[in-house]
Amino acid sequence: MSRSLKLTALALAAVFVRFIMKNAALASVPKHIDHFSKFSPSPLSMKQFLDFGSNNACEKTSFVFLRQELPVRLSNIMKEINLLPDKLLTTPSVKMVQGWYVQSLMEILEFLDTNPDDYKVLGEFVDALVTIRNRHNDVVPTMAQGIIEYKETFPQDPVTNQNIQYFLDRFYMSRISIRMLINQHSLIFDGNTNPVHPNTIGSIDPHCQVSDVIQGQYLTLFDCNLDVFCSPNAILFCLACKKKKQPISIVYVPSHLYHMLFELFKNAMRATIETHENSNELPLIQVLVSLGGEDMSIKVSDRGGGVPFRRIDNLFSYMYSTAPAPEIGEHSRPPLAGFGYGLPISRLYAKYFQGDLQLYSMEGYGTDAVIYLKALSTDSVERLPVYNKTTLKNYKVRQEADDWCIPSKEPLDLSNFKAAK
Ligand SMILES: Nc1ncnc2c1ncn2[C@@H]1O[C@H](COP(=O)(O)OP(=O)(O)OP(=O)(O)O)[C@@H](O)[C@H]1O
Ligand SMILES: [Mg+2]
Repeated sequence: MSRSLKLTALALAAVFVRFIMKNAALASVPKHIDHFSKFSPSPLSMKQFLDFGSNNACEKTSFVFLRQELPVRLSNIMKEINLLPDKLLTTPSVKMVQGWYVQSLMEILEFLDTNPDDYKVLGEFVDALVTIRNRHNDVVPTMAQGIIEYKETFPQDPVTNQNIQYFLDRFYMSRISIRMLINQHSLIFDGNTNPVHPNTIGSIDPHCQVSDVIQGQYLTLFDCNLDVFCSPNAILFCLACKKKKQPISIVYVPSHLYHMLFELFKNAMRATIETHENSNELPLIQVLVSLGGEDMSIKVSDRGGGVPFRRIDNLFSYMYSTAPAPEIGEHSRPPLAGFGYGLPISRLYAKYFQGDLQLYSMEGYGTDAVIYLKALSTDSVERLPVYNKTTLKNYKVRQEADDWCIPSKEPLDLSNFKAAK
């Protein structure tokens, strides 16, 4: 056999071996998911996050923790993906998302038997995490696309809608938490300090000045609407703090706060503009920030006409939106309308560290949207979904008869009762 033929044969053999190995690894994925989903995820406190990134941060400890914790979090949620209705599970978009999860799980499992003392391994782990994070960048719009495909093809029923809402809240929360772990490790151990924010620890700012975030975020949005909101004074600040004159600051992830405020301002502006289309002056959007012993609250108030009380719950639904669905991959997306996920995802960011987001609206006048965050970093602990018997039961809820009377559409004919006397 000539030398070039031998080389070709060897190359083909190598491809074949890789193919067999990849398929063998794929075949063992369900076994790994079963194994790791038996562990509960370990919620970290803000303090633990900071400790992982403190001066004597230990990359090895973080690596050993993550190579177990990431498969646990991934497997817990992958079990739940499998409980989705078949019709949704088989949409191309959901299949694609599921494929990303399998691929990422396999890539992390490769580190299970590696040596934590080997610097090369630690470096490869950071690279793998960055690859995984990038792979999952489009999970939210892809999943949203899957829901749209499903809604367009199949009639909706209330039980499925409820299951999808329950699943997506948990799925996106799990995603927020996995990205948080990945970001912390990759930012802290990539050997560089953040040139813009040198005092942040990974993505956490131990002195996150809330008013700066509000101002920055509002001005970003203001740029998109310069012709409508004629002056940056269209926003009014009131800061309330016991220790007056001191800016309000908490230990927090500024990017999460940016996300929530961006969505609330976007909604408030859209409502204000649409309601006061024909007037010369737009009413102010007001922001009140208050720091107490337990809560740090931010209220964004608009006079955009409000929402009927009956619709409030729907606003947090993934299956419902008044905004037209954008086309996936469309780059020139209108800046003020998306998938209708602004409120539900923002509420998840707030809930992630034990806070919340609530809407109080008065139809005909306007809306107050309030973000509640924990004032103390000791209270800020991750809120994570876990796959267990209760989870399973929640997916199996059947719709039972309502235990409140349903008013009949026609008024009751009381003459029948008189006749019966
Ligand atoms: N401040 C508000 N005033 C009046 N209606 C509001 C307000 N905030 C939200 N809404 C209503 O709630 C709906 C859902 O809001 P949400 O932010 O979740 O999605 P969206 O704004 O439609 O789309 P996206 O935020 O993804 O761009 C909005 O379409 C709007 O009808
Ligand atoms: Mg919105």
